[in-house]
Amino acid sequence: MVPKTNESDTDSEVMAINGLNVHRSGKLVLEDVSFSIKSGEFVGIVGPNGGGKTTLLLTILGILQATSGKIEVFGRNPYPTDFKGRVGWVSQTAANIPTKMRMTVKELITMGTVSRIEIFRRDSLEKRKKVLEAMELTGMSELADKDISRLSGGQRQRAVIGRALASDAEVLIFDEPLVNVDRYARSGILKLLDTLCHEQNKTLILVSHDMTAIRQSVHRVIYLDEQILFDGLPDELPDIIQLAEQRGIENVHSPSTPTSVAISTTTSGQQSEELE
Ligand SMILES: Nc1ncnc2c1ncn2[C@@H]1O[C@H](COP(=O)(O)OP(=O)(O)OP(=O)(O)O)[C@@H](O)[C@H]1O
Ligand SMILES: [Mg+2]
Repeated sequence: MVPKTNESDTDSEVMAINGLNVHRSGKLVLEDVSFSIKSGEFVGIVGPNGGGKTTLLLTILGILQATSGKIEVFGRNPYPTDFKGRVGWVSQTAANIPTKMRMTVKELITMGTVSRIEIFRRDSLEKRKKVLEAMELTGMSELADKDISRLSGGQRQRAVIGRALASDAEVLIFDEPLVNVDRYARSGILKLLDTLCHEQNKTLILVSHDMTAIRQSVHRVIYLDEQILFDGLPDELPDIIQLAEQRGIENVHSPSTPTSVAISTTTSGQQSEELE
């Protein structure tokens, strides 16, 4: 996968964030965050656990309100705005579908087409087409009638990505989609993201602790640890330990064991291959 931007589409800005501060339970968790994302960009967000990645996504989605600073998505403050499906989100826990929930893959993906204003309208041809497209793109067509409780971790992740795709969102936000999937499924998901960006002209934000995936797939990477410590090309991302030191995180063990700067683990508690 060779990172390249969608040249034709890079002029329009889909989000602009300036001097953003966000508090949670009275604690400052995002400080003076500024960046913008253009249409067609594929941006990776990395950083330590508790660094504020999910908080940033929730603020972009208008679920959390910023304390101060400016945030605009499609030119408007997301907090009181309903983007009507223009922004899709696959949450950090999206694939943890309760095992008791009985639903087929197709039904789950169809949920992506249901927006608040359309919930009482009849199923349209257009929506059914979107569901079929989303299933095809995510490679779930053959599993359409399978119960979601019987899917593997990777299949479940693709199904929830399918649900986000069925909404026909222009911006897709993925929070740790590679956790709990095996190597084969991981590469399938990365290929899918690449297709979404380069063939479907989607704007993508990928939060991941998987630095190999980040380096292979995104155009640009942001390192967030309460503040933005790096925003640039993946190849130019400074050493992770150097970034930790910038924030005063010291190695608690002897210098002979530099790998013990445990600044980042996956949500399942595993240390990422690249953050050692
Ligand atoms: N619901 C909440 N209420 C109060 N504080 C919270 C809440 N959720 C997260 N926080 C705090 O906000 C800060 C940022 O957390 P956040 O979940 O955004 O980090 P993250 O970078 O997504 O971490 P991870 O890599 O573990 O997913 C942390 O200090 C965390 O303790
Ligand atoms: Mg998170």
